Amino acid sequence: MPASIIVGAQWGDEGKGKATDLLADRTDMVVRYQGGNNAGHTIVVGDEVLKLHLIPSGILYSHVVPVIAAGVVIDPKVLLEELDGLEEKGLDPFARVRISGDAHLIMPYHRELDLLIERRLGKQNLGTTRRGIGPAYADKASRVGLRVQDLFDEGIFRKKLEAVLDHTNLVLTRVYGRPAMDLEAIATEYLGYAERLSPMVTDTTALLHEALERDANVILEGAQGTMLDLDHGTYPFVTSSNPVAGGALTGAGLGPNRIDRVIGITKAYVTRVGTGPFPTELFDEVGERITDIGGEYGTTTGRRRRVGWFDAVVARYAQRVNGFTDLFLTKLDVLDAFDELKVAVAYHADGERHHHLPPHQSLLHHAEPEYVTVEGWGAPTSDITRYGDLPRPARDYIDLLEQQCGAPITWVSVGPGRAQTLERR
Ligand code: IMP
Repeated sequence: MPASIIVGAQWGDEGKGKATDLLADRTDMVVRYQGGNNAGHTIVVGDEVLKLHLIPSGILYSHVVPVIAAGVVIDPKVLLEELDGLEEKGLDPFARVRISGDAHLIMPYHRELDLLIERRLGKQNLGTTRRGIGPAYADKASRVGLRVQDLFDEGIFRKKLEAVLDHTNLVLTRVYGRPAMDLEAIATEYLGYAERLSPMVTDTTALLHEALERDANVILEGAQGTMLDLDHGTYPFVTSSNPVAGGALTGAGLGPNRIDRVIGITKAYVTRVGTGPFPTELFDEVGERITDIGGEYGTTTGRRRRVGWFDAVVARYAQRVNGFTDLFLTKLDVLDAFDELKVAVAYHADGERHHHLPPHQSLLHHAEPEYVTVEGWGAPTSDITRYGDLPRPARDYIDLLEQQCGAPITWVSVGPGRAQTLERR
């Protein structure tokens, strides 16, 4: 029965792909449960680097069934490009990937609206990835979205498209002064994807439950992170889905009693892309060094990520809303070069000390972190293969994070390679 959820504990980009990769040997199925091609992970096939946005990282292992579940929003053009790219590299993605017919489609007007809304927001913009994610989930919630299964019934597809375009074209033309979108052009393009997608589309909930019934190992792989969660993140500076552990249940279609492990992925510092509050953000030379050493540039948009010290208030909150059974600490090696490190253990705002995330978002915007300063280790860790061989200050740093977060740190990653992961317990 074992099902594990892998969740980002910060603002995304924590290295979830690495955790999935590490567990892949013992895994039969990897299910992506929310988000779309706003996510990105880099995988290495032979000498080549491949950037994936929609397909679960398990694709690299021939024994793993990669599943895109109902909670995901799919841009079919992007999906087919990724599948083609993997096929060119000698993998067999068309025969292995399984896609839920209930997943919603990202349409051309979603991409356009994402751009227009951001532009209209001006300085208040969210810094979205402009992939149409928000507008696609908005249509889903408004019950005017088109789903993957609609591609296989031309009559229904056209009828639904006509209904939604009726309204969307008014918005495009009257609100934004843009040309109306052409139903025929969209229908021709999208219905044209049906034939290639069809063999992969199935009842993924049934597939998942059959796998659990035969005791297969399943990973439910989240995209983005806890603080970008639509309900539990730093709203409105969030994505439009639920990356938290609960989102895995709704997105994939299973009950909480089927889950036996919730693995939170957290960097040894913090990064964030896009706008929104970030109390421990660094604006100095230390921040720049972390960005450069850590290669902190987005996989999807190439944007420079904002960086900051480890934030235990955020980690404690992530622990609360996800119920982590384990933490996977990534990118410890990025901190090798620093003489001293800081960890935010509380915030101060409006004359009060906050041990937990302040309930009112506006407090977060001007929260002053209370830092504990600790000794750095100033030595390379990337070649270390046993946890006990880490320098004493590095182990002290990890102990401090564990004690502050309230969840056991089970793995520590000291580099991108598979072997560069130290098992702590
Ligand atoms: P959207 O998901 O494109 O609507 O973007 C909403 C917010 O989530 C923006 O701040 C993005 O930068 C952020 N975001 C979306 N996907 C990711 C991701 O995979 N990693 C990090 N941030 C992301």
